[in-house]
Amino acid sequence: MSQNDAPEADLENLLHETRTFPPSEEFAAQANATAELYQVAAADRGAFWAEQARSLVSWSTEFTEGLDFSGAPVARWFGDGRLNAAYNAVDRHVEAGHGDRVAIHFEGEPGDTRTLTYADLKEQVSRAANALADLGVATGDRVAIYMPMIPETIIAMLACARLGAPHSVVFGGFSAEALHSRIIDADARVVITADGGYRRGKPSSLKPAVDEALAKGTDVRHVLVVERTGQDVDWTEGRDVRWAEALEAASPEHTPVEVEAEHPLYILYTSGTTGKPKGILHTTGGYLTQTAYTFRYVFDHKPETDVYWCTADVGWVTGHSYIVYGPMLNGATQVLYEGTPDTPDKDRWWAIVEKYRVSLLYTAPTAIRAAMKWGDEYPGRHDLSSLRLLGSVGEPINPEAWIWYRNTIGGGKTPIVDTWWQTETGAIMISPLPGVTAAKPGSAQVPLPGASVDVLNDAGESVPNGHGGYLVLTEPWPSMLRGIWGDLERYKETYWSRFEGMYFAGDGAKKDEDGDIWLLGRVDDVMNVSGHRLSTTEVESALVSHPSVAEAAVVGAKDDTTGQAVVAFVILRAAAGEDAAGEEAVAALRNHVAKEIGPIAKPRSILVVSELPKTRSGKIMRRLLKDVAEGREAGDVTTLADSSVMEQITQGMKAG
Ligand code: WTA
Repeated sequence: MSQNDAPEADLENLLHETRTFPPSEEFAAQANATAELYQVAAADRGAFWAEQARSLVSWSTEFTEGLDFSGAPVARWFGDGRLNAAYNAVDRHVEAGHGDRVAIHFEGEPGDTRTLTYADLKEQVSRAANALADLGVATGDRVAIYMPMIPETIIAMLACARLGAPHSVVFGGFSAEALHSRIIDADARVVITADGGYRRGKPSSLKPAVDEALAKGTDVRHVLVVERTGQDVDWTEGRDVRWAEALEAASPEHTPVEVEAEHPLYILYTSGTTGKPKGILHTTGGYLTQTAYTFRYVFDHKPETDVYWCTADVGWVTGHSYIVYGPMLNGATQVLYEGTPDTPDKDRWWAIVEKYRVSLLYTAPTAIRAAMKWGDEYPGRHDLSSLRLLGSVGEPINPEAWIWYRNTIGGGKTPIVDTWWQTETGAIMISPLPGVTAAKPGSAQVPLPGASVDVLNDAGESVPNGHGGYLVLTEPWPSMLRGIWGDLERYKETYWSRFEGMYFAGDGAKKDEDGDIWLLGRVDDVMNVSGHRLSTTEVESALVSHPSVAEAAVVGAKDDTTGQAVVAFVILRAAAGEDAAGEEAVAALRNHVAKEIGPIAKPRSILVVSELPKTRSGKIMRRLLKDVAEGREAGDVTTLADSSVMEQITQGMKAG
């Protein structure tokens, strides 16, 4: 294992956590999940998934095939079936008589609201699909989506799905540079964006970044622009098209394009261990099956009565699977909130829960820790009694945050589902089942029925209970990635080369004495900042792209709020001059990273050093830098080429 090992002390704390929270009888009596689900899935995994695919998804051509892994490690699921994702998310609910059901309660940050029913969505998505087709988008073409958190983002994604045009959503917080490289990698032909969105009480802009990205050269033919803030934007005649005008002119009728089960639904980029983000590819039938299934059972969703709210951004996989596809396949009523949790005040989320009577809330440990720090006063101002289940995703949740979440937000009664999964897995793989599992704070505990998980040691052997190692998925699952866009070799190398025939997740994990699984963070050079993945190499490349930087090393250091924070060590070029090490210059470097990748990648601190700790073979020892960044005595320095380097760096850190 490398730099991101959980320090032993944390591990010990975690494993001394012995509190358990069995489900209440009341919850269990009404739960969608039952203990029997595990038995059914274990008896015949293939039949179990086929049953989920038939009961939760509508097929225009029924499938007869289940899993086909003959092209391993690329799986096919339900390969001879045909369907359309947007039809499944929208039309069929209207056809079933639920057209009047609210699909989206939109709450803009400034306080503006909109309500969209499933019938409204059907019309909007159809119009958008026609508008995209008019712009030349055909089945199979890629469309990049760079948007704030507004209903049009969901409409845009579903319009692509309706055409069988894979979407590539790029998080609105990413830079023009990051957007450009993703447009190029996927060879997107159309970009859907907005003038901007509201964040922290003011309009932020998006369209200028699109203009900048396209100026670098792409094959994008058209940019469809939603007007959200009304701010002035530059306009390229012939290329740029106003969303409202295009939809107005388009027909509200559109026949969804039937695609094969394995037709690409989307590409979503995520950080890997190298500088180049990976385009994770998801296809249609299996992905929809597992997102729908997990949403129904893990969140105990009841379409008639629940109001669901996932606070993630649609630009991340959580937004794809648990704002768009999972909930909408289940005909859910959900809240979509545009802005930040502390605008205008730190009780905004809780005001939203009260206002819409949210019953199922899905968020991330980093947000829970921030709310905990702000104090009980803020949730205390609101009636949160509508909440009946809470979810957590993105990183391990520390037991204290778990307990606070349950007591302060959940009124001491709600089940908490700590859900482990990844962009690559497409849907939840490990989680307690509400109403069935006795929850242990801090542990994601058990593979879901249908999922198959193990923890292996270095030699690839399954570890006994009470031991730790590497998390692997031992059987294919319907929503698994089908590869990395345009790079099959990298797919094999990254996930399938570490352990023969098994998917290597990149996470460390431990089995406790009961065999329950505790996630321990990444074991590779991927950082987890506020639940968002960033690679150390990616940030290092951004730093080195600055003219004053000669060399950079980046580590993820423990942070009370964000889980990990980016801490950088840089060596300046001799030519950079004295001023380059000054406070202003360091601030400029931090901003440079934000500009290259996005504000989330901005280092918390940058220390200018004269040497980096390297082994005799020249490999940077990030583990030692991590020790320093976390305020510990640096570990074993005997393998360093020059052992005095660490002393200098430690002194520098203390002085800074
Ligand atoms: C981490 C987010 C512990 C893990 C859905 C994984 C978690 C990475 C949990 C994927 C959890 C996610 N407990 N760790 N409940 N959920 N992770 O691709 O390290 O953005 O590999 O997907 O987040 O991040 P990604």
